[in-house]
Amino acid sequence: MTTKTYNPLPVDVQEGERYKWCTCGYSQTMPLCDHSHREKSDKKSFKFFAETTGTIELCGCSETTTPPYCDQQQCKIKTNRHGY
Ligand code: FES
Repeated sequence: MTTKTYNPLPVDVQEGERYKWCTCGYSQTMPLCDHSHREKSDKKSFKFFAETTGTIELCGCSETTTPPYCDQQQCKIKTNRHGY
C-alpha cells in the first residue's frame, strides 16, 4: 500500500543540501525517499538541491509533472473526484 497523499507536504531544507524526493509512493517518510522503492517499485528517487533554507512544500502524491514540487493537477483531480 502506498503512503501517497494528495496534498503538498512540508519539508525543512538547508540551502545547497541534496534531497531525494519519493517517486514511487511507498516511502514511510513521504515526500522524501526512504529507499522503500528498492523492494516495492522499479522507480528511483528524484534528487534535487535545496535553493533556500527553510520549509518548502513538495508533492505528496508522486505524480506531479514538475518534480519535486506539486503541479496542482493531481490534487485537484483527486479532490474533485471525492467531492472535497
Ligand atoms: S521510497 Fe519512493 S522513490 Fe525511494
